[in-house]
Amino acid sequence: MSTPDILIQPSTTALSAAEREKLMASPGFGKLFTDHMVTIAYKDGAWQQGQVKPYGPLTLAPSASVLHYGQAIFEGFKAFMQPDGSIGTFRPEANAERFNRSAARLAMPALPVELFMKAADALINIDKGWVPKNVGESLYLRPFMIATDAFLGVRPSKEYLFVMIASPAGAYFPQGVKPVTVWISEDYVRAAPGGTGEAKCAGNYAASLLAQAQAQDEGCDQVVWLDAVQRSYIEEMGGMNLFFVYNENGKPVIVTPELTGTLLPGVTRRSLLQVAKDLGYESREVKLTAQQWRDDVASGRMTEVFACGTAAVITPVGHVKAKGYNFTINNGENGPVTMALRDALLGIQHGTKPDTHGWMHKVC
Ligand code: COI
Repeated sequence: MSTPDILIQPSTTALSAAEREKLMASPGFGKLFTDHMVTIAYKDGAWQQGQVKPYGPLTLAPSASVLHYGQAIFEGFKAFMQPDGSIGTFRPEANAERFNRSAARLAMPALPVELFMKAADALINIDKGWVPKNVGESLYLRPFMIATDAFLGVRPSKEYLFVMIASPAGAYFPQGVKPVTVWISEDYVRAAPGGTGEAKCAGNYAASLLAQAQAQDEGCDQVVWLDAVQRSYIEEMGGMNLFFVYNENGKPVIVTPELTGTLLPGVTRRSLLQVAKDLGYESREVKLTAQQWRDDVASGRMTEVFACGTAAVITPVGHVKAKGYNFTINNGENGPVTMALRDALLGIQHGTKPDTHGWMHKVC
């Protein structure tokens, strides 16, 4: 079955190139939005005609079930300006597939991957003037789906709205690529076995905010989550996956927590495991306790730590704090392996390094 084309209703109030350029001089993250968005409604068991239309408010019934029971999922991926002036997205199918796994967990309908791709391509195409040109900057695409049934009974909604918006983005963290300080949370957990930790659902992020606030109260930038059962295994940092770099006989070994069902399976995480291999680094997916983290830094075996995600790409971790102890990694500085991985990934995304795995999708 072929997916329907997306109808295009261009904005009559789109910003001029000069107005856009001015805004995009320092895009930051998540505060600027392009002129258009995509909407596709789901009803009577089917996806309806999709539309690209002017970016603007959504109309929802106050009884819409997303507002009460939180059936809401989202994704994030990026479009990059290429050296030849074309625009490419990084692994959009991987995000489309994860979107559908999140949808399944939240009892929501799947959106055909082809339709997700068409929606993204149509939006990027009409708003291509919003794709930043500088290295490290991109157009961040934010697809999401919400339950729209006007009904207060607790059951999966029968109607949904898929929306995709786009936002020119620079560095996620205002300080740029500088090591962050993290707080290991012993009071709160992000995800329990059988819960929604693997899904990119809004509720996971809502439930993280108090722990993040506690981290900030402790003078830290980000929270690090431990597993819900033993309260000892490292899971994630905020909404990002973590990597640990070991030095084994002079060679870097890249270690990341294994996907146990409570971690978000990051597209950047998966890509970095491959990039590490391409750079000749050994990599391992393991279960690592907070105690081991501390011991391995103290012994000098662990030399660098970083977090990764679509939004921030790679962020070094320089200091770790928890109740009763704290330690510093790599003198609180950016490490060479972290930066080599970051350069390699950004090179593929910006088209300055060969895309040997076919990760880039040409949009226009
Ligand atoms: C990402 O790292 O891309 C994330 O998921 C963070 C996002 C929620 C801003």
